[in-house]
Amino acid sequence: MIDKLTNKAIQKSFKKTKVDIDFQIVDCQSTQSYAKGISVAVDTVIITKEQKKGIGRLGRKFISVEGGCYFTLIKKGISKNILATIPIVSVAIATVLGGYGIKADIKWPNDILVNGKKICGILCSTSGENTCIGIGINVFNDIEEIQDIATSLYSEGVLTKTRADVIAEILYEFYQLSQTDFSIVQEKYKKRLNIIGQSIKVVQADKEIEGTVEGISEEGFLIVNSGNEKTKVVYGDITIN
Ligand code: BTN
Repeated sequence: MIDKLTNKAIQKSFKKTKVDIDFQIVDCQSTQSYAKGISVAVDTVIITKEQKKGIGRLGRKFISVEGGCYFTLIKKGISKNILATIPIVSVAIATVLGGYGIKADIKWPNDILVNGKKICGILCSTSGENTCIGIGINVFNDIEEIQDIATSLYSEGVLTKTRADVIAEILYEFYQLSQTDFSIVQEKYKKRLNIIGQSIKVVQADKEIEGTVEGISEEGFLIVNSGNEKTKVVYGDITIN
Protein backbone atom coordinates (compact mmCIF):
# COMPACT_ATOMS: atom_id res chain seq x y z
CA MET A 1 0.00 0.00 0.00
CA ILE A 2 1.27 3.46 -0.93
CA ASP A 3 1.58 5.86 2.00
CA LYS A 4 0.04 9.32 2.11
CA LEU A 5 2.31 12.10 0.92
CA THR A 6 0.59 15.12 2.43
CA ASN A 7 1.57 18.49 3.89
CA LYS A 8 0.89 17.08 7.33
CA ALA A 9 3.10 14.02 6.72
CA ILE A 10 5.98 16.21 5.49
CA GLN A 11 5.61 18.64 8.41
CA LYS A 12 5.70 15.74 10.86
CA SER A 13 8.75 14.10 9.27
CA PHE A 14 10.62 17.42 8.94
CA LYS A 15 9.96 18.17 12.61
CA LYS A 16 11.04 14.69 13.73
CA THR A 17 14.21 14.84 11.62
CA LYS A 18 14.94 18.50 12.42
CA VAL A 19 14.81 19.68 8.82
CA ASP A 20 14.02 23.37 8.87
CA ILE A 21 13.37 24.45 5.30
CA ASP A 22 10.29 25.37 3.28
CA PHE A 23 8.50 22.82 1.16
CA GLN A 24 5.75 22.72 -1.47
CA ILE A 25 3.85 19.65 -2.62
CA VAL A 26 2.79 20.43 -6.18
CA ASP A 27 1.25 18.80 -9.24
CA CYS A 28 3.78 19.21 -12.00
CA GLN A 29 5.34 17.46 -14.98
CA SER A 30 8.80 17.60 -13.43
CA THR A 31 9.95 19.08 -10.11
CA GLN A 32 13.19 20.10 -11.79
CA SER A 33 11.44 22.23 -14.44
CA TYR A 34 9.00 23.55 -11.85
CA ALA A 35 11.82 24.51 -9.47
CA LYS A 36 13.65 26.37 -12.20
CA GLY A 37 10.55 28.42 -12.99
CA ILE A 38 9.85 29.85 -9.53
CA SER A 39 11.62 32.21 -7.19
CA VAL A 40 11.99 31.47 -3.49
CA ALA A 41 13.33 33.50 -0.59
CA VAL A 42 14.84 30.56 1.33
CA ASP A 43 15.90 26.98 0.59
CA THR A 44 12.75 25.18 -0.51
CA VAL A 45 12.05 21.61 -1.52
CA ILE A 46 9.53 20.96 -4.29
CA ILE A 47 7.84 17.57 -3.96
CA THR A 48 5.45 15.78 -6.28
CA LYS A 49 3.67 12.42 -6.28
CA GLU A 50 4.34 11.55 -9.92
CA GLN A 51 5.95 13.17 -12.93
CA LYS A 52 4.72 12.90 -16.50
CA LYS A 53 7.91 14.44 -17.82
CA GLY A 54 10.57 13.44 -15.29
CA ILE A 55 14.01 14.54 -16.53
CA GLY A 56 17.09 12.35 -16.28
CA ARG A 57 20.73 12.91 -17.11
CA LEU A 58 21.54 14.07 -20.65
CA GLY A 59 17.88 14.98 -21.19
CA ARG A 60 16.75 11.35 -20.88
CA LYS A 61 13.30 10.53 -19.53
CA PHE A 62 13.08 9.56 -15.85
CA ILE A 63 10.11 7.26 -15.27
CA SER A 64 8.25 8.65 -12.25
CA VAL A 65 5.05 6.79 -11.43
CA GLU A 66 3.12 7.26 -8.18
CA GLY A 67 4.73 5.73 -5.12
CA GLY A 68 8.28 7.00 -5.56
CA CYS A 69 9.94 10.08 -4.07
CA TYR A 70 10.42 12.84 -6.64
CA PHE A 71 11.73 16.10 -5.30
CA THR A 72 13.97 19.04 -6.10
CA LEU A 73 15.78 21.01 -3.43
CA ILE A 74 16.16 24.65 -4.43
CA LYS A 75 19.27 25.68 -2.57
CA LYS A 76 19.98 29.40 -2.43
CA GLY A 77 23.37 30.19 -3.93
CA ILE A 78 25.54 28.40 -6.44
CA SER A 79 28.41 26.18 -5.42
CA LYS A 80 31.78 26.86 -7.05
CA ASN A 81 31.45 23.69 -9.03
CA ILE A 82 28.01 22.25 -9.52
CA LEU A 83 29.51 18.79 -10.09
CA ALA A 84 30.86 18.74 -6.54
CA THR A 85 27.30 18.85 -5.22
CA ILE A 86 26.46 15.44 -6.67
CA PRO A 87 28.97 13.54 -4.48
CA ILE A 88 27.52 15.20 -1.37
CA VAL A 89 23.99 14.18 -2.40
CA SER A 90 25.14 10.67 -3.36
CA VAL A 91 26.87 10.09 -0.04
CA ALA A 92 23.85 11.51 1.83
CA ILE A 93 21.49 9.08 0.08
CA ALA A 94 23.84 6.11 0.48
CA THR A 95 24.16 6.94 4.19
CA VAL A 96 20.38 7.09 4.68
CA LEU A 97 19.91 3.80 2.81
CA GLY A 98 22.69 2.31 4.94
CA GLY A 99 20.65 3.27 8.00
CA TYR A 100 17.78 1.22 6.52
CA GLY A 101 20.08 -1.81 6.30
CA ILE A 102 20.70 -1.42 2.56
CA LYS A 103 24.21 -1.47 1.12
CA ALA A 104 24.08 1.22 -1.52
CA ASP A 105 26.77 1.74 -4.15
CA ILE A 106 27.41 4.90 -6.08
CA LYS A 107 27.60 4.75 -9.87
CA TRP A 108 29.41 7.82 -11.10
CA PRO A 109 28.20 10.38 -11.89
CA ASN A 110 24.66 10.32 -10.55
CA ASP A 111 23.11 6.92 -9.78
CA ILE A 112 22.65 4.97 -6.58
CA LEU A 113 22.60 1.20 -7.01
CA VAL A 114 21.69 -1.73 -4.81
CA ASN A 115 23.22 -5.03 -5.95
CA GLY A 116 23.81 -3.50 -9.38
CA LYS A 117 20.24 -2.26 -9.78
CA LYS A 118 19.30 1.42 -9.86
CA ILE A 119 17.28 2.68 -6.91
CA CYS A 120 17.87 6.41 -7.28
CA GLY A 121 18.91 9.05 -9.80
CA ILE A 122 20.24 12.53 -9.07
CA LEU A 123 20.25 15.63 -11.26
CA CYS A 124 21.91 18.92 -10.36
CA SER A 125 21.58 22.14 -12.27
CA THR A 126 21.71 25.85 -11.70
CA SER A 127 18.92 28.34 -12.13
CA GLY A 128 19.74 32.01 -11.69
CA GLU A 129 21.28 32.27 -8.23
CA ASN A 130 20.03 28.85 -7.11
CA THR A 131 21.25 25.28 -7.22
CA CYS A 132 18.48 22.81 -8.06
CA ILE A 133 19.11 19.31 -6.74
CA GLY A 134 16.65 16.79 -8.16
CA ILE A 135 16.31 13.36 -6.60
CA GLY A 136 14.14 10.46 -7.73
CA ILE A 137 13.96 7.32 -5.59
CA ASN A 138 11.99 4.15 -6.12
CA VAL A 139 10.08 3.57 -2.90
CA PHE A 140 6.61 1.97 -3.24
CA ASN A 141 6.27 2.49 -7.01
CA ASP A 142 5.73 -0.48 -9.27
CA ILE A 143 9.04 -1.49 -10.86
CA GLU A 144 7.94 -4.86 -12.23
CA GLU A 145 8.56 -3.92 -15.86
CA ILE A 146 12.10 -2.75 -15.14
CA GLN A 147 12.99 -5.19 -12.37
CA ASP A 148 16.08 -6.46 -14.25
CA ILE A 149 17.72 -3.07 -13.95
CA ALA A 150 15.89 -1.33 -11.08
CA THR A 151 14.97 -1.89 -7.48
CA SER A 152 12.99 -0.01 -4.84
CA LEU A 153 13.08 0.48 -1.09
CA TYR A 154 9.99 -1.71 -0.80
CA SER A 155 11.61 -4.50 -2.87
CA GLU A 156 14.65 -4.28 -0.61
CA GLY A 157 12.46 -4.90 2.44
CA VAL A 158 12.06 -1.32 3.70
CA LEU A 159 8.38 -1.42 4.55
CA THR A 160 7.91 1.02 7.39
CA LYS A 161 9.49 4.23 6.08
CA THR A 162 7.09 6.75 4.58
CA ARG A 163 8.09 8.85 1.58
CA ALA A 164 7.98 11.89 3.86
CA ASP A 165 10.51 10.21 6.17
CA VAL A 166 12.79 9.31 3.27
CA ILE A 167 12.76 12.88 1.93
CA ALA A 168 13.35 14.38 5.39
CA GLU A 169 16.19 12.01 6.24
CA ILE A 170 17.99 12.64 2.94
CA LEU A 171 17.67 16.41 3.36
CA TYR A 172 18.96 16.21 6.92
CA GLU A 173 21.96 14.15 5.87
CA PHE A 174 22.63 16.42 2.89
CA TYR A 175 22.77 19.55 5.06
CA GLN A 176 24.98 17.78 7.61
CA LEU A 177 27.45 16.68 4.91
CA SER A 178 27.38 20.09 3.23
CA GLN A 179 28.92 21.51 6.40
CA THR A 180 31.59 18.80 6.52
CA ASP A 181 35.03 19.08 5.02
CA PHE A 182 34.84 17.85 1.41
CA SER A 183 37.78 15.48 2.00
CA ILE A 184 35.51 13.45 4.30
CA VAL A 185 32.83 13.31 1.59
CA GLN A 186 35.52 12.24 -0.91
CA GLU A 187 36.58 9.34 1.33
CA LYS A 188 33.01 8.20 1.94
CA TYR A 189 32.29 8.48 -1.78
CA LYS A 190 35.35 6.42 -2.68
CA LYS A 191 34.26 3.62 -0.34
CA ARG A 192 30.90 3.39 -2.11
CA LEU A 193 32.05 3.95 -5.69
CA ASN A 194 31.18 0.76 -7.57
CA ILE A 195 34.12 1.05 -9.99
CA ILE A 196 36.88 2.01 -7.57
CA GLY A 197 40.16 0.31 -8.53
CA GLN A 198 38.62 -1.08 -11.70
CA SER A 199 39.95 -0.78 -15.21
CA ILE A 200 37.46 1.23 -17.28
CA LYS A 201 36.91 2.96 -20.57
CA VAL A 202 35.20 6.36 -20.68
CA VAL A 203 33.58 7.22 -23.98
CA GLN A 204 33.17 10.92 -24.67
CA ALA A 205 31.95 12.72 -27.79
CA ASP A 206 35.42 13.19 -29.25
CA LYS A 207 37.69 10.78 -27.34
CA GLU A 208 38.08 7.72 -25.16
CA ILE A 209 39.99 7.45 -21.90
CA GLU A 210 41.18 4.13 -20.49
CA GLY A 211 42.60 3.56 -17.03
CA THR A 212 42.03 2.62 -13.41
CA VAL A 213 39.54 4.52 -11.26
CA GLU A 214 41.15 6.21 -8.25
CA GLY A 215 38.28 8.27 -6.83
CA ILE A 216 36.88 11.74 -7.29
CA SER A 217 38.58 15.11 -7.27
CA GLU A 218 37.60 18.14 -5.21
CA GLU A 219 35.53 19.30 -8.17
CA GLY A 220 33.59 16.01 -8.26
CA PHE A 221 35.40 14.73 -11.38
CA LEU A 222 36.24 11.05 -11.71
CA ILE A 223 40.01 10.48 -11.44
CA VAL A 224 41.23 7.92 -13.97
CA ASN A 225 44.85 6.79 -13.85
CA SER A 226 46.07 5.77 -17.31
CA GLY A 227 49.60 4.89 -16.14
CA ASN A 228 51.46 7.85 -17.58
CA GLU A 229 48.83 10.42 -16.67
CA LYS A 230 45.84 11.03 -14.41
CA THR A 231 42.75 12.43 -16.08
CA LYS A 232 39.90 14.23 -14.35
CA VAL A 233 36.82 13.05 -16.19
CA VAL A 234 33.93 15.49 -16.28
CA TYR A 235 31.41 13.41 -18.23
CA GLY A 236 31.08 10.31 -20.35
CA ASP A 237 29.65 6.83 -20.49
CA ILE A 238 31.66 4.20 -18.70
CA THR A 239 32.30 0.58 -19.54
CA ILE A 240 34.31 -1.78 -17.34
CA ASN A 241 37.18 -3.53 -19.18
C1 BTN B 1 19.01 10.21 -13.82
O1 BTN B 1 18.81 9.09 -13.35
O2 BTN B 1 19.49 10.37 -14.96
C2 BTN B 1 18.67 11.42 -12.97
C3 BTN B 1 17.24 11.37 -12.56
C4 BTN B 1 16.78 12.53 -11.72
C5 BTN B 1 15.30 12.44 -11.46
C6 BTN B 1 14.80 13.49 -10.51
S1 BTN B 1 13.19 13.15 -9.95
C7 BTN B 1 13.06 14.73 -9.29
C8 BTN B 1 13.68 15.68 -10.28
N1 BTN B 1 12.72 16.04 -11.29
C9 BTN B 1 13.06 15.60 -12.51
O3 BTN B 1 12.39 15.80 -13.54
N2 BTN B 1 14.22 14.93 -12.44
C10 BTN B 1 14.73 14.90 -11.09
